[in-house]
Amino acid sequence: MSRPATNQSRDREQLHKKFAAMGLRGYWQLERDDHRMEPKIWRWKELYPVLMETTEVIRPMYMQPGDLLIQPNFAWHDHANNSKEPIIWIDALDSSLVNYLTASFRDEWDEGTQQPLTKSDGTSRRLYGSIRQPNIELGSGVPYHYKWAETLEALQTAAREGTHDPYDGVLLEYKNPINGGSTFRTMTCYIQMLTPGQTTKFHRHTGITHYHVIKGNGTFVVDQKDTKEIHWTEHDSFTLPPWRWHAHGNNSQTEPAILFSVTDRPLLKMTGLDREENG
Ligand SMILES: [Fe+2]
Repeated sequence: MSRPATNQSRDREQLHKKFAAMGLRGYWQLERDDHRMEPKIWRWKELYPVLMETTEVIRPMYMQPGDLLIQPNFAWHDHANNSKEPIIWIDALDSSLVNYLTASFRDEWDEGTQQPLTKSDGTSRRLYGSIRQPNIELGSGVPYHYKWAETLEALQTAAREGTHDPYDGVLLEYKNPINGGSTFRTMTCYIQMLTPGQTTKFHRHTGITHYHVIKGNGTFVVDQKDTKEIHWTEHDSFTLPPWRWHAHGNNSQTEPAILFSVTDRPLLKMTGLDREENG
């Protein structure tokens, strides 16, 4: 249901106030904030109604639950929702860095509202997945679709094989389809499983990590002195500030928990600023 255009600016202002109260901001709100970061959780039950309101106030938006799609630099893209239900996804952007480096620009597609489809669904997966041409140039990357069913199968296989990290449980990285490295040059994405009742050891590292709960419920512990505990459940999102001791816990004794995360650590590795200390 859309609202009359005359109310749009007041609605937008009110929406921005709600965002600010929740420590959020829309991608269209481009101001930078420089306050010291603290660990924070965005609870799905509080976030969902605001997101629904956003779909009425902000007009921007194909994928299935759990899928990861990557968008290379300098590529035309648009969003379309072909269903009657709203679609919600997490957008992980390095736009603050790009803006800081004054390397951003915007071009509008001026031949209709949607660009024509020139390739069939799955083209990148067929060309760059398990088999690919030799000596491919990385360039600005390729759009790529990591399917949830395959991700889950890999995670369950790793868990069965006993591939457990003491600080993160079963941890898998979404590798770049061209060079096998981090998902992007500046950011990388992980999927991790905490087995029933698992608690991990403490460690700390530079870089910011943003988590999203795919399944389960648990506790994220930050700092070893004046400890902060973030209790999370399905669809919640929470953030880890740089260089803070932290450990994960799955609160269920019977079900595994699954977390998706994205971090800027590849950028720090590139610049020699990546550092990790184990507890
Ligand atoms: Fe960590």
